[in-house]
Formats: sequence, structure tokens, C-alpha cells
Amino acid sequence: MNVLVIGKGGREHALVWKLRQSPRAGRVFCAPGNAGTAREGATAVPINYTETDRLGRFCQKEAIGLVVIGPEDPLAAGLADYLRGKGVKVFGPSKDAARIESSKVFAKELMRHADVPTAEFRVFDHPEPARTYIQTRDYPVVVKADGLAAGKGVIVCKDTQEALRAVERIMVRDEFGQRAGRRVVVEKKLEGEELSVLALVSGRTILPLPPCQDHKAALDGDQGPNTGGMGAYCPAPLGTLDLMASLEATVFVPTVHAMKRGRFPFQGLLYAGIMMTNQGPRVLEFNARFGDPETQPLLMRLKTDLLEILEAVADERLEEFENRIEWDPRPAVSVVLCSGGYPAKFDIGKSITGIDEADRLPDVKVFHAGTKLDEKGRLVSDGGRVLAVTALGDTLAAAKARAYQGVKLINFPGMHFRTDIADKALKKPTPVRVESPPVLPARFRRPGSAGGTPQA
Ligand code: AMP
Ligand code: GLY
Repeated sequence: MNVLVIGKGGREHALVWKLRQSPRAGRVFCAPGNAGTAREGATAVPINYTETDRLGRFCQKEAIGLVVIGPEDPLAAGLADYLRGKGVKVFGPSKDAARIESSKVFAKELMRHADVPTAEFRVFDHPEPARTYIQTRDYPVVVKADGLAAGKGVIVCKDTQEALRAVERIMVRDEFGQRAGRRVVVEKKLEGEELSVLALVSGRTILPLPPCQDHKAALDGDQGPNTGGMGAYCPAPLGTLDLMASLEATVFVPTVHAMKRGRFPFQGLLYAGIMMTNQGPRVLEFNARFGDPETQPLLMRLKTDLLEILEAVADERLEEFENRIEWDPRPAVSVVLCSGGYPAKFDIGKSITGIDEADRLPDVKVFHAGTKLDEKGRLVSDGGRVLAVTALGDTLAAAKARAYQGVKLINFPGMHFRTDIADKALKKPTPVRVESPPVLPARFRRPGSAGGTPQA
């Protein structure tokens, strides 16, 4: 089967790498791809996701059996709907279902409606009432632009002044675009450790994958501005069997069910960003796609044929994989190497060395994100997040040590990275064991059986 992956990040390199291992994979294409996907043997397709006509024709010409959409923008733009309309098999939700990520207002209202535990919030379409609301809160808030803003439209505020400035930036100065900033969500700021729980969803089946932990802040110790993600590991001991079972019942089942009832059923990967507060887990956000960088350590551990799994999702026969997905029992750690300046304005075009040496280490894989070959055929940086050095180890500590051993071999001018990926789990006083796979997949339950949960 010929496969087309849409996207150009580290997540897409990991998807391509794993899909290529399938004995059923024919030619693999990546639109547009990066230097890593090309090195993996995926043919680069220079078509933008907005050129839907051209992509449709490409799929027909190359007899593409499955399209896997990586990033949120093409999903929010309705690429899955368009291609399905042309008879192409697609992994990824419809435009309507992708609103769970592309509109914060939609996601929060869905959670309220489905009784999913999340931070207390209000929605505003004018700045003045938003300001009044902020001034009358006796707790810190987070201000979120409604629309997609490349992960930058969420402002975690330390005080009232910063929150008022956030309203100004989003609604008045349109810093994140006019559309994205037409409405804002103002919600209670939650404290705790974060956990990423990704689940495959199709038809009546929800199949949670082993829990991961991302590191959003740019600097060690969770300092500095938020980024797309500076590193991740899997499985995260924070995601105990009990917690995973509870998230399935209180988050995934009611959410997926509400979407089905609302006639925008979800098909693809549903990602819940969870905050572990003193009052219990709360959903911070949903994503309608695989996480980046969570996908890198996750797929490093996957033993089952990814092509078979993603095709089953697209065919609505995911139940065939209940209790059947196999994982390497060893944990994986992924460290993201970034361009100088990232997440603010960053440099590109810097020559990268040492990737082959790092790739030669046992159980190490370097996934490319912002990379390309320049006109002289040299590998250069081409984005904010450049590489994700990913390693397996017998223990989490060993996986971390090996990933950083790989990092040490790589260099480009301005390169920076966090040195504490996985430390939250490693520095816990009493490490908790997580089973792998950590959860038994859930089937749909009948309405009302999920149990209500209070909002924080
Ligand atoms: P979102 O795009 O909604 O996930 O927000 C991005 C990041 O902002 C999250 O991963 C958290 O680190 C942070 N964040 C979002 N909402 C909250 C909240 N209510 N309290 C504290 N931090 C938050
Ligand atoms: N790692 C966070 C995300 O993919 O949105």
C-alpha cells in the first residue's frame, strides 16, 4: 500500500520511520517532509496542504492507499473531509471534529456539556467584559485566544496586570491573528504536573496509548516561555493504571460520546493534555492529532505494525486491536534540540554535524524536525525545533543517559536544549511502576454510565 504523510516535523519523521517498517508499506511519500523523512526513503512531495486539488490528484495518480495527516492546520482546514470526498482513505478527524483543537471555546463548551473535569472558565467576544471578569477573580488566570496560533495563543498570567495585557494582545492588537483573537477563554490557572494522554479513536472504540510527559517550558526547571515541547518520555510513571482507567471513564468516553451525539464523530488520534491538580486530574486542552514530541518516544516503543493500526482507525475497525498493541517494555526519552533564539525569533540555515554518529549508538534514533539539505547538499537547520534525539534504555535513567549521549555528538551554531528531560519522574522519592501497556482499551459505554465529575 502506498502511503502519504502530511507534515514536516519530528512527529512526521517518526510516523514515516515506523510506517516504512510495515511489510505492507509500498511507496511512502511525505508532503512536504524534511531531510529526515527523505533520508528514511519517503519521497518528498512539494505540495502545500492548502492545495487540496493537487493533493487529491496526487493521491489518485500514485494510488495512495492511506493518507496520514500529522499537524493541526490541515485538519482544521478540512483536508481530511476533502480527500475522503475524493474516495481517499484518511487517518485524521474531519474539520468539524478537529474543532476540539482548533477552537478553545468549542473544546471548553464541549467539556462543560459532557461533564469532563476542566478549569473553571468564561468565554468573551468583547474585551471590556473580559477585563471586568479578570478584575473580579481572586485567583490567577490563563487567557487563551480561541483559534489556532501555533501553540502561542495561550498566556499563563502571574497577576491581574498580565491578564489584562493578554486580553489587549489577543483581542485588541490581534497579535495572534484577527480570527484567532475574536473570542477569548479566560480560565482559572491550575497548578500541578502535566501528562499527555493520547488515544486512538474510531467508531465505538477508544484505545488509550501509554502515557507520556512533555516539557513545554524552554528552560530547565520549567523556566522560561512555553514552546511546542522541548522533550518527552514514555511511559510516564505519573500515568498509573488507576489514573489511566479514571481518565478513560471521565475524559475520553464522555468526550468521544458527546462528539458522536453532536454528529461530529472523532476519528484519528485524540490527545488530552492533563494537569494533575490537588483536586484530581483536569483537562487543559485537547489536540486532534499525535503530539510532537510525544510521538517520538511513543513510536520508538511501538512493536505492532503502525500501518495496520492507522488503517484500522480509518476503516472503523479499531476494535481488532483491543489488547493487541505491543510495546517495548523499555522506556524511551526524547530530547529536542532547538535553534538559537527559539521560541522567539530564531536563526536557520546553520550547518548540522554528528547525526550519523548519534544514530549509530545502540537504541538511539535521531528524528528530524526543522532540517533541510541546502543547495550544496549540506544538512542545515530550517526551523525552531530542529532534531529530537530519542533513545530506549532498560530503565528511564538509562534511556535519558543514552539520549544525552546522542545529544553530545550533535552540533550546530546556536543549538540549545533542556538538560532535565524525564527528571520529574527520576527525581520522585518513590518511583511508581507503570505497566506496559498501561491500560485496557475501553469500548463505548451507554449514555450516563461514565459518571459525572465536578469542574475545578
Ligand atoms: P493549551 O494550548 O491550552 O494546552 O495550553 C498550552 C499550555 O499552557 C499547557 O500545556 C499548559 O502548560 C499551559 N496551560 C493551559 N491552560 C492552563 C491552565 N488552566 N492552568 C495552567 N496552565 C495552563
Ligand atoms: N507536545 C504538545 C503538542 O503536541 O501540542
